[in-house]
Amino acid sequence: MALLGIFLKSLLAVLLFYCFLPFWVPDGFGSKNDDTKKPNFIVILADDIGWGDLGANLPELESHTPNLDAVAAGGLRFEDFHSAASTCSPSRASLLTGRLGARTGVTHNFAVQSVGGLPLNETTLAEVLKKSGYTTGLIGKWHLGHHGNYHPNARGFDYYYGIPYSNDMGCTDAPGYDIPPCPPCPLRRNLTQSFASTGGGCYTKLALPLMQNRAIVEQPADLRRLPERYALRAEQFVEEASSQGRPYFLYVALAHMHVPLSRPPMAPPLGPYANSLTEMDILIGRIKAAAYGAAGQDTLLWFTGDNGPWAEKCNLAGSVGPFVGAWQLEQGGSSAKQTTWEGGHRVPTLAYWPGRIQGNRTSSALLSTLDIFPTLAALAHTALPANRRYDGTDVSGILFGQSQEGHRVLFHPNSGAAGTFGRLEAVRLGQYKAFYTTGGAPACNGSVGPAQRHDPPLVFNLHQDPEESSPLVPGSQEYRALLPDLAKAMGDIMADISTDNVSVADYGQDPSVVLCCDPKRVACRCTEL
Ligand SMILES: *[C@@H]1O[C@H](CO)[C@@H](O)[C@H](O)[C@H]1NC(C)=O
Ligand SMILES: *[C@@H]1O[C@H](CO)[C@@H](O)[C@H](O)[C@H]1NC(C)=O
Ligand SMILES: *[C@@H]1O[C@H](CO)[C@@H](O)[C@H](O)[C@H]1NC(C)=O
Ligand SMILES: *[C@@H]1O[C@H](CO)[C@@H](O)[C@H](O)[C@H]1NC(C)=O
Ligand SMILES: *[C@@H]1O[C@H](CO)[C@@H](O)[C@H](O)[C@H]1NC(C)=O
Repeated sequence: MALLGIFLKSLLAVLLFYCFLPFWVPDGFGSKNDDTKKPNFIVILADDIGWGDLGANLPELESHTPNLDAVAAGGLRFEDFHSAASTCSPSRASLLTGRLGARTGVTHNFAVQSVGGLPLNETTLAEVLKKSGYTTGLIGKWHLGHHGNYHPNARGFDYYYGIPYSNDMGCTDAPGYDIPPCPPCPLRRNLTQSFASTGGGCYTKLALPLMQNRAIVEQPADLRRLPERYALRAEQFVEEASSQGRPYFLYVALAHMHVPLSRPPMAPPLGPYANSLTEMDILIGRIKAAAYGAAGQDTLLWFTGDNGPWAEKCNLAGSVGPFVGAWQLEQGGSSAKQTTWEGGHRVPTLAYWPGRIQGNRTSSALLSTLDIFPTLAALAHTALPANRRYDGTDVSGILFGQSQEGHRVLFHPNSGAAGTFGRLEAVRLGQYKAFYTTGGAPACNGSVGPAQRHDPPLVFNLHQDPEESSPLVPGSQEYRALLPDLAKAMGDIMADISTDNVSVADYGQDPSVVLCCDPKRVACRCTEL
């Protein structure tokens, strides 16, 4: 009797289950999905772009970035967002690890002959997302080591397509605009030349490679065709990743706005920089269209820059907007890329996510590319790698308008002076910025502002003085009130780093590791001309 009762109850349960399944399943699963669903991520990193290059940042001026302005109108624009360093490799290492160069060991740029790269025991964002089920792709510039296990395919990227370092680190057949201009790749062999360029000089023995995964597909790369090729690869990646039914992480590290600026075939009469900016903007428009096309994808797009404009390149460099670093300009030297002045690291930044990020908003929170790693990991419901400390934090609350609280303290590492690379010699404390060392980068007119120590530090109030023109008077009440907080911030970070797991990057060089399609051909060409 009892058994029959249980049987009948089970039968009833099974019948109820199947009869009502179609009605209650969608609701139940729908709400559960919101917590566990992994969104797609697209991070677009422009090279050497200026804060003032983004039309939406300076609405009173003519804009050359209508597509990015549309991203701003539909998303969140950041006014006080900073790259984690003022030069290429360290900035990228920090974006992909959430850690300052003082922890990753990547404090200056890698070269075409570099044996190493981002230390192998540093874990990249791509590695973390891949492990959590993402399809991962990098299109564009890597610049964190190209030899052996330092290649993107060994650092978490399923797919790689691009130039593995800066677009000026090799000759091309159509050199584009640079100052001074570089000649095309040689046609005849010259054995007395070395692979490395000298200073800001030109490469005449090694052509610029274009890679797909580990294969060199073109050498010298044709920079004029790059935007079209990057757009096609991005469209393909998004389509293929979406058709697999897996979330994706696409990191697009553009060659724009780094010199040489290519000469678009039918350039409008704007001049080389504005033409290139327009070209970049169109490319970003295509990536956006691919990502949010027919399917209406659940995708966060984050646009930012790796450091400020390369002022030494004069009219081929971007605009810092109001962040001119006036104090430094008076001493000579530039105050943009390679410096800790605002022009060196305050970068145009946008976050866009229809349905999740409310549009047409501006955030003045103090944020950094260091925050991208912890934020994307949190949004993907995955933990940060253990056994190390992070400089970035999860700022998804700011994306969603639930918080306005950015960093109270943010460090700007020295990215310009050999011997002191990576040192934390400038720090933000709320609206204040203190310099323990100042220094300029080479300027358009050839001046170089040499390093100067400041004890006590030089302090600017950025809210009142975004140009960094007039430091606070050291005896003033405002200045004296800051000193204890500053001393504590500096002491805390030093103690924190000295007890962290700090990696060491191999900056050794060896000519045998250069990327060379065919060593028998002049400039390593893949094919004879
Ligand atoms: C070969 O390269 C060296 C070093 O760059 C240069 O001084 C020399 O003029 C070059 N020779 C020829 C024939 O181009
Ligand atoms: C370059 O310009 C700066 C101002 O930005 C000036 O202080 C410096 O004297 C100039 N140097 C040369 C070599 O003209
Ligand atoms: C965006 O916001 C500004 C004010 O913050 C307003 O003037 C403008 O009309 C808004 N634009 C859209 C498209 O909502
Ligand atoms: C450093 O790594 C070791 C294991 O390799 C770990 O025990 C230690 O807690 C780590 N230190 C920090 C600060 O995370
Ligand atoms: C990477 O390895 C070095 C050398 O063994 C070590 O000192 C460092 O703490 C490691 N880094 C991390 C993040 O574990």
